[in-house]
Amino acid sequence: MPRTHILALDQGTTSSRAVVFDQEGRAVASSQREFPQHYPRPGWVEHDPLAIWASQWSTAIETLGKADLLPADIAAIGITNQRETTLLWERETGKPVYPAIVWQDRRTADFCASLKAEGVEDLFTRKTGLRLDPYFSATKIRWILDHVDGSRKLAEQGKLMFGTVDTWLLWRLSGRTVHATDATNASRTLLYDIHRGDWDDELLEILEIPRSILPEVKDSSGIFGESSEGIPISGIAGDQHAALFGQGCFSSGMAKNTYGTGCFMLMNTGSEAVASQNNLLTTIAWRIGGKTEYALEGSVFVGGAVVQWLRDELQLIRTAEECNALAATVPDSGGLYLVPAFTGLGAPHWDPYARGAAFGMTRGTNRAHFCRAALESIAFQSAELAECMVKDSGIPLKELRVDGGAVRSDLLMQFQADLLGVNVIRPKDVESTAAGAAYLAGLGVGFWEGKEELARHHEIDREFHPSRPRQEMEQLEAGWRRAVERAKAWES
Ligand code: G3P
Repeated sequence: MPRTHILALDQGTTSSRAVVFDQEGRAVASSQREFPQHYPRPGWVEHDPLAIWASQWSTAIETLGKADLLPADIAAIGITNQRETTLLWERETGKPVYPAIVWQDRRTADFCASLKAEGVEDLFTRKTGLRLDPYFSATKIRWILDHVDGSRKLAEQGKLMFGTVDTWLLWRLSGRTVHATDATNASRTLLYDIHRGDWDDELLEILEIPRSILPEVKDSSGIFGESSEGIPISGIAGDQHAALFGQGCFSSGMAKNTYGTGCFMLMNTGSEAVASQNNLLTTIAWRIGGKTEYALEGSVFVGGAVVQWLRDELQLIRTAEECNALAATVPDSGGLYLVPAFTGLGAPHWDPYARGAAFGMTRGTNRAHFCRAALESIAFQSAELAECMVKDSGIPLKELRVDGGAVRSDLLMQFQADLLGVNVIRPKDVESTAAGAAYLAGLGVGFWEGKEELARHHEIDREFHPSRPRQEMEQLEAGWRRAVERAKAWES
């Protein structure tokens, strides 16, 4: 019997999802499970590696059930994941030596500052395309080796494994046989030379990280291994890279913005690794058939998560939909600016010491204004990224392809188009991340032939056209900039 579907596993920051795709690239069934977030100290964010695995596995089973499929119907599995999040586990027992330190975690801010003071940031940036920021995996690995009893010894004896979340899932799925990652995930560790395509011994030495703990780095599309049920695992990419692929941004100059926990704007720059002059990152878009393509990236740490914060921490709303509905009851935010710098600021500010702030409150400020300001903060942050991207690439933005859960908000999308002054294009299937993982896996086993076939899967749901006067938007942006400046350098 021919195998008829591809299974994509999308392991995100706040939830695990599984989606099955048919031959036409249509998502035929999916399921999603949130899992606990742990904040043991201010600025720290951790996940239980076993909760990541359990939630991911159960969504996979549930999705197959919903689609009435058996493992024997699945031609391949693709994995995509929250990036940078750092796990270390024992080679022999499979036991994690510490919780996963999540990409948002700021505990290594001081260590990054001390490395900067030593004058090595340029070296890291030249080789990895990244910056010395706690965001990336390397300083998190170093923290575990320095703080978890016995871990450095295990590492030196070759008994410890490092992985980003893709590597952890691959290792578990393959019955603990394959320790590998793909080039996109490696490019987020601060240890991988994106030009040579190899782990870098000089950087490893500076950070005192033994090479023996690192996974093998493979193409994003191609066979990584097999699941215990005999299904090839043939595609892996970090979630933002997968979304770029899933949105069909295959040629230089095409850009997408994903509105998930954070917001991540990536522009394909083809075979050229463009060094940013405007505080963006240079990253590997994907590596296929041994050929590396690059992207410029702007990363905003808190995007859609600001709505989750209104729901879970402030308990101002019960659902994300309620946020939208309330925001739509007021014509504007009433002068309120909410800067969701809960875990510092990413691009283009890169301030790990910034913290969340609200400015412009009056006696008349109400719940609806907070909801509106939260949604607007997502768009303001994304607009800052777009501006840097245009400066860096020299390519004017013609349109922006968008995806991720928060793009269901028409209000947010319209405001984004008004701010950017270009059309914002929302696809029918907003889960581009899962689609990208499925495409990479499908290509890896010959389920689909090539990018041309995949590009035909991209269907538009709605285009949002800029409709408000430029001058009005510029005034709002000026207010936003003032608010951001005041939120900076809060923690010391
Ligand atoms: O770099 C972090 C990013 O990969 C997280 O993505 O979708 O979980 O917000 P998401």
